[in-house]
Amino acid sequence: MASLFGLRSMSESALRDFLKQADSMLEVLGRPVAKVPALRGKRVALLFFEPSTRTRMSFELAAKSLGADVINFSTGNSSLSKGESLLDTAMTVKALGADCVVVRDTHARMPEFLAKHLELAVVNAGDGANEHPTQALLDLAVLNKVWNGEFKGKTLAIVGDIGRSRVARSHFWAAEKLGINIRVIAPDVFLEPGFQEAFSVSIFSSLEDGLKDVDAVMALRVQTERRGEGGPYLASAFDYFSRYGITKQRLESLAPNAFLLHPGPVNRAVELAPDLLYADKSLIQDQVQMGVAVRMAVLYWALGCRDE
Ligand code: NCD
Repeated sequence: MASLFGLRSMSESALRDFLKQADSMLEVLGRPVAKVPALRGKRVALLFFEPSTRTRMSFELAAKSLGADVINFSTGNSSLSKGESLLDTAMTVKALGADCVVVRDTHARMPEFLAKHLELAVVNAGDGANEHPTQALLDLAVLNKVWNGEFKGKTLAIVGDIGRSRVARSHFWAAEKLGINIRVIAPDVFLEPGFQEAFSVSIFSSLEDGLKDVDAVMALRVQTERRGEGGPYLASAFDYFSRYGITKQRLESLAPNAFLLHPGPVNRAVELAPDLLYADKSLIQDQVQMGVAVRMAVLYWALGCRDE
């Protein structure tokens, strides 16, 4: 039994191991009956205290593809709306026999807190603005394919709402270990104070300058709901799109074998021109598919079914 809180303290070899394991899981997913009994008899609880589409569905499919049973929870129709605390909700799924808890919450470090109190394997599915390790792992698994296993010296540009992005943070930690150069491209309002000192990334305020010679560009969603009060921080979505939106022309200006990623959900015509979502250079659908394989690898590891 093991927990995955983030990529900050994950070694390069552990990172590479997950990517390798994800490849084997992809093979399982490609079979006519895309299911193995590796986690038969195990119960995986999905505790999502924040909205989710891709992450939640892929964790559920991942658990089921490994033969586990899934206990599903969503804030709207649960006793949380009757005042039950998050910890008590988690204790309830423990009493129901959960072996592993996958949690998403607005508070950073909630996965650590739950692991300590529940004494179960806990997997972080996004904790506040801290980390989103399985998203970064799946992005890396997709890049691993198009970069033929070569990360060292590659340049990944991450564009947009960086300051609040747990996806970006997980990438920063992983990139340090894998030797990927990260460029952050964002208006000042999207960079938190102290950001430059905290991470070894190069910062660009001009999209054109930042995109020169990159091997991949990842656009991030403008996270209006996570920024809370204190706006206005953007003149308008139109203004943002004209300065930072990925357009066909901007995408075509990239090197011939450079790719586009987005963790989703996408705000069309804010982060990306609508016709780019499913364009040839877009890996967005591959990211969604790889999400299942990576989460299978993580659940398999978390439940102690894989030797370390
Ligand atoms: C991200 C998240 O929730 O952190 N989405 C995801 O998991 N695919 C990014 C976002 O919300 O913008």
